[in-house]
Amino acid sequence: MSPQGRSLYAEHIAARQRTTEAALAECGYDALVLSSGAPFTYFADDQEPPFHENGHFAHWVPLRGPHHVLVVRPGTRPRLVRVAPEDYWYEQAPLGSPFWADDFDLQEVGTTDAAWKLGLTGKRVAYIGDETARALAAGIAAEHHNPASLVARLDWERAYKSEYEVACMEEAEKMASWGHRAALAAFDSGASELEIHHAYLAAVRCTEAELPYGTIIGHDEKSAILHYTGKRTKRDGRVLLIDAGARHLGYCSDITRTWTRKDCDSRFPLLARGMDKLQLELCAKVVPGLPYPDLHAAAHVLIGDLLHELGVLKVRGEEAFDEGLTSPFFPHGLGHFLGIQVHDVGGRQKDPTGGILPPPPKSPFLRTTRKIEEHQVFTIEPGCYFIEMLLRPHRNGPKAHCFDWKQIDELAEFGGVRIEDNVHVTAAGQVNLTRPHI
Ligand code: GLY
Ligand code: MN
Ligand code: MN
Repeated sequence: MSPQGRSLYAEHIAARQRTTEAALAECGYDALVLSSGAPFTYFADDQEPPFHENGHFAHWVPLRGPHHVLVVRPGTRPRLVRVAPEDYWYEQAPLGSPFWADDFDLQEVGTTDAAWKLGLTGKRVAYIGDETARALAAGIAAEHHNPASLVARLDWERAYKSEYEVACMEEAEKMASWGHRAALAAFDSGASELEIHHAYLAAVRCTEAELPYGTIIGHDEKSAILHYTGKRTKRDGRVLLIDAGARHLGYCSDITRTWTRKDCDSRFPLLARGMDKLQLELCAKVVPGLPYPDLHAAAHVLIGDLLHELGVLKVRGEEAFDEGLTSPFFPHGLGHFLGIQVHDVGGRQKDPTGGILPPPPKSPFLRTTRKIEEHQVFTIEPGCYFIEMLLRPHRNGPKAHCFDWKQIDELAEFGGVRIEDNVHVTAAGQVNLTRPHI
């Protein structure tokens, strides 16, 4: 890590210490214990899914693996206990000198039991994590495990990214862009969904387990399945929707592109190009103070206008949105917070104490109902799909005449379009973290 990166990290830790101290004081605690978490096994099996560290722990330190313990107390350096068991079944890489080590009182132990010797007798201690039996055995009463008021305050803070976090996410954007370029080249040469997936991983130079989420790679009609996980071996798709990210030091990118080939119906590339244009218009509207649901509503109107321009809808965007005619084409939220988790925490929080701002009734899947503020990072991901399950009720509904059903039926075999970028909110507006790369 460069000296500049090192100093950004020191500032990040200072901010974590400051905000955690304030949250502990407000909630009446003297100390916070975090653990990176315990792996779990599938039922009646000895196999584990890929391990993801507790996000609250990862917010402090990019130390990978289970069972590490972090103790935060006001006025003292955070104490980090790394569990490094003697175990010949798995590689035991020495810690070395990671860039973050100087910011902690760092201790290495050989067992999880040793990590939980907390030395906090007489203190009011909160624990956040999934190793609650360990916390109980260490003397932290169950009522202080994952206390809602403290978790809400920390979740709230996680929405404001430090410069260190944004730098990590920029790196994750760059890594994902290598994969997206390779995916496009593979698609252009006729590669199957499975081959494109492998091209993506090879270019990002990581395993599937290291990705923030499983790649969504759909040809043609499968591009209309929002979370499509199949990987067909059939080649020569005419449309490719690829939604895939990468991770750097725990931080995610989440990028979608939709590409078309020459033998695609000529109307579909118009839809894809129109979506790209309106996605950029939406990014340009991002400004501190704007409620995110307003941006979501603007996306509906722009998508309605695009469908009207193409003749798929016979009414303009405003009317289409008011009448609920854009929802079957755009059934998901415009975006979500991004950070340690791909769908990062706090997007629906009303205030630091934990109240919830529900999504608008017409958009129950909108994950971000909070006001846009400086330092947030979120996705902007409008989409338009031909999903028969959602269109069917309109075929004989009171507004059936507002749709061009012939066009819809002709375009359905090409699936759908989504364009997704990651945006960092600044005092003046926003910086698009994705577009410089892909
Ligand atoms: N990749 C999942 C999403 O865009 O939310
Ligand atoms: Mn997303
Ligand atoms: Mn995505």
